[in-house]
Parts: sequence; structure tokens; C-alpha cells
Amino acid sequence: GAAELGPYRHYMQKEIFEQPRAIADTLEGVAGVTPELFGDGAYRVFKDIDRVLILACGTSYYSGCTAKYWLEAIARIPTQVEVASEYRYRTSVPDPRTLVVTISQSGETADTLAALRHAQGLGMKHTLTICNVSTSAMVRECELAYITRAGVEIGVASTKAFTTQLAGLFLLTLALAQVRGHLSDEQEAEHLKSMRHLPVALQAVLALEPQVISWAEDFARMDNALFLGRGLHYPIALEGALKLKEISYIHAEAYPAGELKHGPLALVTAAMPVVTVAPNDALLEKLKSNMQEVRARGGVLYVLADADTRITSSEGIYVIRMPEHYGALSPILHVVPLQLLAYHTALAKGTDVDKPRNLAKSVTVE
Ligand code: G6P
Repeated sequence: GAAELGPYRHYMQKEIFEQPRAIADTLEGVAGVTPELFGDGAYRVFKDIDRVLILACGTSYYSGCTAKYWLEAIARIPTQVEVASEYRYRTSVPDPRTLVVTISQSGETADTLAALRHAQGLGMKHTLTICNVSTSAMVRECELAYITRAGVEIGVASTKAFTTQLAGLFLLTLALAQVRGHLSDEQEAEHLKSMRHLPVALQAVLALEPQVISWAEDFARMDNALFLGRGLHYPIALEGALKLKEISYIHAEAYPAGELKHGPLALVTAAMPVVTVAPNDALLEKLKSNMQEVRARGGVLYVLADADTRITSSEGIYVIRMPEHYGALSPILHVVPLQLLAYHTALAKGTDVDKPRNLAKSVTVE
């Protein structure tokens, strides 16, 4: 009821602002990196696998896409991510030395459950879920589990479930890295320190809301939007586009910035705002030249720039600067302004934010 909303207008807004708490709860009790965080016998399972197959739908699929970058770069383990509804119906090549990871807020999504059972039927017995509901079918049916503590999520567009999944997936990355000999004690301490800093860092990002609101006023008048990211921020661009579609009904798509020239550049005009997720990593210089390609065609850029990048606002370039540089955990922070952008654009358009048309919170039938 309205009482539970407190100062917020919608559950989605409340849930966006609950993220510092949700992440803190999800990491509570994590004293160090150990396979046992994922259940009894996890060490034996992690020793017995040499690849990861992630299966999920919707926003949970995008957290899986982000985790692939971590798993390959940090844990050095080959990782494949598949949309559950596709995986279950295609002929694939099973490998028993695979850790099948399902990601689900509800733990009841029909396609994800069916994909899990399909993988098990193909002889892949090592299964792990990152799930927000401890009593769900997904948790019951998987060998191992990490329960995120986002708390009940009511808004159909997932927000705090996504960022807590990322926290769980980062821990999984560290645990696999450890078992595979790719995590020194110093690295473990360093990563844990930055994870514990997340709630404070998230709070600082949430304080950017007034700047995002001014972007949203422009977006509410648009029919289309393009989101660009590179590397582990490409899935964040995908998630930003999904959020905008789901609740504001603006057509949005996301591209890895390097693909711009292979198609979407043809669509760029002043009527197609281009959101760019620009963290200060090895790809920044390349991203800057992608941005120039957009400007050269009259496109207007909305840039989420990292703390220490020198990108500044100018004609046709609107910059929101992130408070800090976050390294590997950067996706968890960069998604938040995109959640707020979708929320405030929907608010400006007057759509039913918490119950967008045609969508359900949990899709338990195919
Ligand atoms: C529905 C919801 C999405 C969610 C997806 C997967 O489409 O509207 O917000 O990401 O299902 O749900 P799950 O519970 O498996 O994460």
C-alpha cells in the first residue's frame, strides 16, 4: 500500500534508492572469499569444472552478460551466456565439466527453469543459481546457490535485483578465481574493500538524480534513443535501453560503440539522442572517436563520464560526471543513472511506471 512507499512516488523509485542497502545486505556476512559462500561442497564443484554457462532472461540475462567479462578476465574461465528461451530449444554441445549458472530474481521464470532442466538432461550436473527468493524452485533445483538480499521487488522493471545479482556474480568470479589460482590474498583484500565501499559509492551516484531529471525532460519528447557502451559496459547500455523501453515506451536499442559504423550510425540525427556510458578504461579513447562520429552527424550525446575523464559538456554534448572511478565494479554504479533516466522519462510521459503495459513481474508460463 501507499504507506510502504514512504517519500517515494513509485516502487521503482523506492527500489532504485534501496540499492545501497540491498547491496550491503547481500554482502553481509561475507568475511572473505571462499567457495562455501555458494553452499556446502562448492569447492569440490568448482574444482570439477572448466567452463561456465549462464542462463537467464530479461534483466537477469544482462547481469549474466556483464559477469562474462569478469569471469573471463579475472577468473580466466571460458564463459558463455544464453537467453534461456533460446538455449532450451537449440541443439548445443554439452560438456559435463560446465558450471551451469542460472540468474533469476524470482526463481520461478518458466524459461529459465526449463533451460536449467534441459542442461541437467544433457548431463550437466553442476548447477548454481544467483537468486533473490530462497524458497523458489530455482534454488531447490540447483546444487549451489547464492541468495541476493535485494528484498521484495515490486516494480516490474527490475532494478535492485540487477545490482545485487552483479554483486553475487562478482563474488562468484572471485571464488572461481581463487580456486583456479588467479587470486592472491592481496587481490582478494583489494576486491573485498571495493565491494564494501559500494553502498557509499551508490549513495553518491543516487545524488546525481537532479541532473538525470534534466536529461529525462529531453528524452520524454523523443521517439527513439540509442545507448552505446564498450566492454563490460556494453551490457549496461543494453540494460539502460531495456529499462527505457519497458516503462517509457520509447524505442531504444543498445550497441557496442565499435559497431556504430556498421549500421546504427545511419539512424543518427538530432531526433535520436545517444546515451554513452564512458568509464575511464582502456577503451575511452576509442569511445571518444565514436562520440565524434555521432556529433559529426548532428547527433546529440548524453554522456555518463567517469570521474577522471576529461569529457566536458559542450554544444550537443551533455555530460554527467560520476563521483568516483570504480574499476571492475563500475557497471554496478553506471547502471543507476540509466535506471533513473528511464524512471524520470516515464514519469514525464505519465506512464504506469510500476505496471507497464503488456509486461509481468514474473513470467511463470512460457
Ligand atoms: C520479466 C520481468 C523482468 C525480469 C525477467 C526475468 O520479464 O519483467 O524484470 O528481468 O522477467 O525474471 P527473473 O525473475 O527470472 O529474474
